[in-house]
Amino acid sequence: MDTSPTDHRIRNVVVLGGGTAGWMTASYVAKAFQGTVNVTVLEAPAVPRIGVGEATVPNLHKAFFAFLGIEEDEWMRECNASYKMAVKFVNWRTEGEGQAASRTHNGRPDHFYHTFGILPNHEQLPLSHHWFADKAAGRTDEQFDYACYREPAAMDAKLAPRDRDGNRWTNYAWHFDAQLVADFLCRFSVKSLGVTHVQDRFTEAVRDERGFVTALKTETGRVLEGDLFVDCSGFRGLLINQALREPFLDMSDYLLCDSAVAAAVPHDDEAGGIEPYTSAIAMKSGWTWKIPMLGRFGSGYVFSSRFTDRDTASEDFCRLWGLDPDTTALNQISFRVGRNRRTWVKNVVAVGLASCFLEPLESTGIYFIYAAIFQLVKHFPDKRFDPVLAKRFNAEIETMFDDSRDFIQAHFKFAPRNDTPFWRENKNLVLDAGMQEKVDMYRAGMPVNLPVADESTYYGNFEAEFRNYWTNGSFYCIFSGLDLVPDHVYPTQALRAGDGAREVFAGIAEERDRLLATLPTAYESLRELHGK
Ligand code: FDA
Repeated sequence: MDTSPTDHRIRNVVVLGGGTAGWMTASYVAKAFQGTVNVTVLEAPAVPRIGVGEATVPNLHKAFFAFLGIEEDEWMRECNASYKMAVKFVNWRTEGEGQAASRTHNGRPDHFYHTFGILPNHEQLPLSHHWFADKAAGRTDEQFDYACYREPAAMDAKLAPRDRDGNRWTNYAWHFDAQLVADFLCRFSVKSLGVTHVQDRFTEAVRDERGFVTALKTETGRVLEGDLFVDCSGFRGLLINQALREPFLDMSDYLLCDSAVAAAVPHDDEAGGIEPYTSAIAMKSGWTWKIPMLGRFGSGYVFSSRFTDRDTASEDFCRLWGLDPDTTALNQISFRVGRNRRTWVKNVVAVGLASCFLEPLESTGIYFIYAAIFQLVKHFPDKRFDPVLAKRFNAEIETMFDDSRDFIQAHFKFAPRNDTPFWRENKNLVLDAGMQEKVDMYRAGMPVNLPVADESTYYGNFEAEFRNYWTNGSFYCIFSGLDLVPDHVYPTQALRAGDGAREVFAGIAEERDRLLATLPTAYESLRELHGK
């Protein structure tokens, strides 16, 4: 038996595709195994990147850019990045046409935030439970997000998640220009990490007798040999689905949207300020994202082709922003919903759109990329390709994807809207058993998916976060935001002699007022950061 690990070490990794997934994978793997593994990226300049993918989640910096050793302000400048403190759901409860302004619902604007702020605990219970006890007893009529978090009022006022000295006061994620991100990571990978960039079109995978890929052939006759191949070729899945014929599991019975029409919309920041959040605006047959950046916002109507056609969707989208459909450059996108049965097969691992995709309602696409690379590095094989490594990796990816699919399905399932066939059909779809169990727990007044310690340590440990991605706070933001509240108060609460967290609620209100009085606007903060 050969006990020398050095004989089997992977020497050459070839990444097919140079979109966000390709360059994130190349840079991360090159950094993780700097000097011992050669990384090559094969990218066809004539095949465009998807070009969307502009809203992220907060662990991006710690789990990815900090790993590469790149300062937040540096990559923010390179990628025209702006701040994102939440997803704001607009008009998910009221019927009607797509409109950017919140309609009125029960005397309040029809919107709620799924914030990245931390939900405090009080007397060993999340604040959500104290809020609901107050609400059930008629002691409060404040909405959950505004009562339990400092952030919503600051977001309404378009304030920054950093103070005037540039210090962050809350968790936030980022919006950025997808093309700039891939270009920046390409430059960084080639210059600082020695990644080889080959610009040519892939034509064929060479395989050995076991079916393992040994090389990629290109249009101009190059042959790129490797030990491990990462398929980042986008929805085509050129290696995983086409060469290796791994089936893609269609999950359109969970999520109905399969198309989008998108555009960059110019914006007068001086007059309108910059919203420090992504908006998800309910439409007749789906929803529209709004992702503000300096000088423009990215936007796209994600719709179900079963319930509307492209022309109607394009008209509805243009009407929403006052765009002229005849002169606006619209990016028409069709997407597959689901994941590969296995995302690592033989010596091919798929990352990005080649691996899995669901609509970007909670901005999970880029998170899925660096979560997959994190898991790849953790399960990195040698040339013997022990199947246990691939099996464990595949199990992690399945859980990661299926959990998010189910959480996002629940957004549509519980949205009170019922005014169009699209919203009605969502009510008929069946939740997966695991999700149904969480809903049952929520209804029974129990906390759902509490973080291992408490929410304040959530962003400190990516591994723990990966295993516990949608927290009790996330469930409360979405479910209570959609008017779905527990059937009754958590029974143990009635037996506790607590003070009902009055001081905690008062502290949040005080802190909210202090923030409103002192913070710079997101626009001011971003102008300073970008030197504009
Ligand atoms: P992408 O398609 O960008 O890249 C494929 C690469 O393969 C390209 O470089 C291409 O040249 C190359 N290629 C293809 N064929 C080739 C060949 N024959 N030879 C050589 N190279 C070849 N995510 C998120 O986190 N937040 C968000 O807000 C959104 N929003 C969003 C909206 C919509 C409508 C979609 C469809 C997707 C999102 N996403 C998202 C997901 C996000 O866009 C996606 O995860 C990343 O852009 C990664 O894309 P890829 O790099 O996988 O594919």
